[in-house]
Amino acid sequence: MRTQVAIIGAGPAGLFLSLLLDRLGIHSAILELHTRQYIEERVRAGLLEHATVQLMHELGVGDRLKRQGLEHGGIELRFNNRAHRIDFRELANGKCVTIYAQHEVIKDLVAAHLQESVAANHPLLFETTDVQLHAIDSANPYVTFQHNGSTERLDCDFIAGCDGFHGISRTSVPQGVLTTYERDYPFGWLGILAQAPPSSHELIYAHHDRGFALLSMRSPEISRLYLQCAPDENLALWPDDRIWHELQKRLATHDGWKLTEGPVVQKGVTGMRSFVVEPMQFGRLYLAGDSAHIVPPTGAKGLNLAVADVRVLAAGLGAFYSTGATDLLAQYSATCLRRVWKVQRFSWWMTQLLHRFPDDNPFDQRRQLAELDYVTSSRAASQSLAENYVGLP
Ligand code: FAD
Ligand code: PHB
Repeated sequence: MRTQVAIIGAGPAGLFLSLLLDRLGIHSAILELHTRQYIEERVRAGLLEHATVQLMHELGVGDRLKRQGLEHGGIELRFNNRAHRIDFRELANGKCVTIYAQHEVIKDLVAAHLQESVAANHPLLFETTDVQLHAIDSANPYVTFQHNGSTERLDCDFIAGCDGFHGISRTSVPQGVLTTYERDYPFGWLGILAQAPPSSHELIYAHHDRGFALLSMRSPEISRLYLQCAPDENLALWPDDRIWHELQKRLATHDGWKLTEGPVVQKGVTGMRSFVVEPMQFGRLYLAGDSAHIVPPTGAKGLNLAVADVRVLAAGLGAFYSTGATDLLAQYSATCLRRVWKVQRFSWWMTQLLHRFPDDNPFDQRRQLAELDYVTSSRAASQSLAENYVGLP
């Protein structure tokens, strides 16, 4: 097989990249480890920045998003059992964010790929195993893999490593080339999907002595809720009653607000880390999305950052194939990293503001509450939160 750009991984980064390349007339092939059903059902992110929504529309994959996405013009910060709203439309030039599940984005992108006009030049292969990258520092890189019981070879001009944090792309770069910057957090999130109408029209980020809680949603019938927990929390110790009890405590207000409960249909624990490798490129291999960086989910940025990377990569590849220019590709890593580090800062900031750390003392708790008070009472501070949350330009 031969293509122009071999893409490893059919997550948001890989699927958006190949559609962007399709619109530029550049051929690609995606190799995905899992089945179509697996990637279309995996419960993950839910919040799309303004620019991600716009890109879905530009690519012609925004019909369901337009019908089913829930536009939010603000969020609530809850602390000392009181609600404080941050109004994005007013503070961030009319911009807002949209709730639409990541696996729905994946379904829309996969459907677009399977259309005949796209499929011919952009094969999407599921269940490819033992993917290995070769000659990545030459002009003729290639990829080998197992598919349907045989060994295949895919020759290409470029490789896009879009295979997430646990993928093989990043680890294919020779030792000593990449520098890693990271921080682990001493907690995780226990997340549930519940058949219960969301108890608020907008997301609620709650600071509480017992730990952080987040109320989000997927539809007018389904709530998505998270609780700060131990990084290795044992789900067996969390029957549904205990989860609801804890959510009720952490989200309670003085004014009689009620959290609606319902059957829990999915549960999971997610670890939290901040992670970046520099540079995001080696030879003809370009890393994009979670393969190059991870943010804690408190800022709702991971998916959106993956999309921002592949926009930069598609522009660079577009320039290369139309005029032979290599300057945009040469700047790929530096261009992406400017945004990556701002998003890292914001995600870390939201995380440290809202969570309890095991070594916190009463001073730290007072300081957090003072910062929350400042963020919700100073226009400058709330504007800073708003412009980062809806997405930097
Ligand atoms: P991935 O989505 O991880 O995709 C990588 C793909 O590569 C996968 O399909 C994988 O199967 C495949 N793959 C891996 N290894 C191989 C291999 N060896 N060969 C072939 N294929 C391979 N982000 C937000 O923006 N907003 C949110 O609200 C948000 N909330 C989140 C909540 C939770 C609980 C979690 C876990 C994450 C959340 N995120 C959020 C983060 C977001 O889900 C990720 O940042 C996003 O999925 C990154 O996309 P990606 O395409 O880079 O990687
Ligand atoms: C979600 O809806 O899954 C979600 C929303 C906001 C976050 C993280 C996750 O910060």
